[in-house]
Amino acid sequence: MSGIRRLYEQADLSEVVALDSIDLSIEPGTFVSVIGPSGCGKSTLLRLISGQERPSAGRVTVCGLSPREAAEAKAFGFVPQTPALLPWLSVLGNVTLPHRVNRRGVSSRRVKGRGDRSSGGDRVRPDLEAMLREVGLGESLHKLPAELSGGMKQRTAIVRAFGLRPDVLLLDEPFGALDEFTREALQEQLLELWEQTRATVVFVTHSISEAVRLSDKVVVMAPRPGRITEVIDIDLPRPRHQEVITSPEFHAYELALRESLRDAFSHSGVVR
Ligand SMILES: Nc1ncnc2c1ncn2[C@@H]1O[C@H](COP(=O)(O)OP(=O)(O)OP(=O)(O)O)[C@@H](O)[C@H]1O
Ligand SMILES: [Mg+2]
Repeated sequence: MSGIRRLYEQADLSEVVALDSIDLSIEPGTFVSVIGPSGCGKSTLLRLISGQERPSAGRVTVCGLSPREAAEAKAFGFVPQTPALLPWLSVLGNVTLPHRVNRRGVSSRRVKGRGDRSSGGDRVRPDLEAMLREVGLGESLHKLPAELSGGMKQRTAIVRAFGLRPDVLLLDEPFGALDEFTREALQEQLLELWEQTRATVVFVTHSISEAVRLSDKVVVMAPRPGRITEVIDIDLPRPRHQEVITSPEFHAYELALRESLRDAFSHSGVVR
């Protein structure tokens, strides 16, 4: 995306600059996190990438297509902050729904150069039940969302998104409301699913250690106007198990990101 600007009109007709001068290019198959104070435009960025909104100026392309074309080609998986599960369907029912209502759309591929993973029909349908078991939901396949914990709902939403075999997976603070240990377990499971599918991931988080652990690249944003202040490459080996997470190199990245964020927060009016 280049030269992106997004204005919103407020109720009093004044304009708010949600994003300004955003230039960002994301390598296919990489894991990119976006971090920054509340209101700096992270969710807006995801909506622009997925074509749910259009920029006021500038251009977004996804594997050579416009976001709308990419969306029509079912290139995106989206996990919103609050998992939107259908309350009357079981875990398995929610996860398999896109395949049942839109068989061809989900499984037939689509975006240039990424068509190697499937070629249509039910043959390539991922084993969703196995994926649910892998993330610890084997006992809960037939439960309704109301019977699940917050973390279980998040896992269901993540498997549903991965099950679409998207080229681009957009996750908006999916682990926001979870305790540290559940969060770490889910990070691990997310990385395993990502290793298998190699989708391009754009992941919004407020956690410094989560961003370092998961990412190839961390995009730091500041508000007023929403902009990118720094992009930090995380050059750590994968898989990032305990020995990597506890290494001095990991800690050095956390400190660098913390410093960068401190500057971003100084523009937020929350931290001085
Ligand atoms: N539909 C809208 N109408 C008007 N203003 C909007 C709209 N959506 C977002 N904004 C404004 O754009 C700015 C960026 O909002 P956005 O939701 O992208 O922030 P965010 O970084 O995701 O914040 P958070 O961390 O709190 O989720 C904010 O000032 C917000 O008030
Ligand atoms: Mg947001």
